[in-house]
Amino acid sequence: MTTVTTSAPTSESIAEPWATEQTITCRDDRVGLRAVIAIDDTTLGPGFGGVRLRSYPSTEAAAREAQRLAAAMTLKHALAELPYGGAKSVVMLDGEAPAPGTPERRALFTRFGEMIARTAGMYIPGVDMGTLLGDMQAIRDDGGARAFCDEVSPSPFTARGVYAAMRAAAVHHHGEGGLAGLHVVVQGVGSVGAEVARLAHADGARLTVADVDTARAEELARELGGATVDAGEAPFHDADVFAPCAIARVVMRDTIERIPARIIAGAANDTLDDPGCAEALHEAGIVFVPDFVANAGGVIQVHGGVVGWSDAETLAAVDRIGERVTGLLETAQEQGITPLAAALQRASDALGREVTA
Ligand code: NAI
Repeated sequence: MTTVTTSAPTSESIAEPWATEQTITCRDDRVGLRAVIAIDDTTLGPGFGGVRLRSYPSTEAAAREAQRLAAAMTLKHALAELPYGGAKSVVMLDGEAPAPGTPERRALFTRFGEMIARTAGMYIPGVDMGTLLGDMQAIRDDGGARAFCDEVSPSPFTARGVYAAMRAAAVHHHGEGGLAGLHVVVQGVGSVGAEVARLAHADGARLTVADVDTARAEELARELGGATVDAGEAPFHDADVFAPCAIARVVMRDTIERIPARIIAGAANDTLDDPGCAEALHEAGIVFVPDFVANAGGVIQVHGGVVGWSDAETLAAVDRIGERVTGLLETAQEQGITPLAAALQRASDALGREVTA
């Protein structure tokens, strides 16, 4: 039998003990489980957020990531008007993950499910980086916890929402023509970014795509009659719209002046290196659509599955991201604040407390 090895806990304490409503550590050496559940805020409903499976340099780093991502889920659900709070969990890996379908993996997630069940439904897990539908099924069926086990991939819905957000920002900035004739650069053409590029192309945009997997970018560029650019140079490529759809923190304060695009709207979580970048972008005349508003299509689709919406109802709900972005941009313009500040104001109203990024 292969032994599942997970990171040994370090002597460091949890990153921010009071950053969330609850931060729960979970340990069982028999199955090699070390995990952190962060339940950020349950004002609007039980905390829903994915389970990440990856290695971390320390317990503190794992806890910090769970808390940060949980807080982003609170904002995402509040802005998408969904009846969930924000939560996230991380399962710490040391070395290779146990292969899908093995008894070791099942045992790991079953045990984690038993611990999630102790939250009495206040933490609802879903698939996230490193985890699979089968892991959620182990959490639910063997662990006895509530878990969202939708078999539909959220990515096309996330892409549709990002496209709706991008289009709304383009209409706000350039008028009714929307994306027609605009140059859109997409960084990261995986399951979300490639679909965002296709939707923008179908709407009349000219596309340049970038990916560390250059073959993937080249193939998509061929399909769309577009061009490619080096992955790291994508934010600085001449464009009207920049869509970050790969990694976090691609917008950094000291490189904002090199960004030619007037609109930034993408799927990547945590696009801004620090929240102060929103003000700097505003001053530079760049419209930044907050990532947690633009990329909510996936959670909207999951919710549609839970409450039994028809396909048409789910798509209409995802498309409403566009209207929401229009509303935020109008509020921002009227009040002379950033779209991020407008979004945080809306979240503060929904949650009944002041929310900061
Ligand atoms: P994916 O893994 O399918 O695609 C990511 C793509 O980015 C890959 O093609 C990868 O080669 C490329 N990439 C990685 N590092 C890069 C870099 N430094 N520069 C350029 N390209 C790079 O991931 P997916 O599902 O498309 O998600 C994209 C982003 O959107 C992620 O940040 C994810 O957290 C976020 N997101 C995704 C959601 C979904 O429904 N899939 C929901 C909400 C957010």
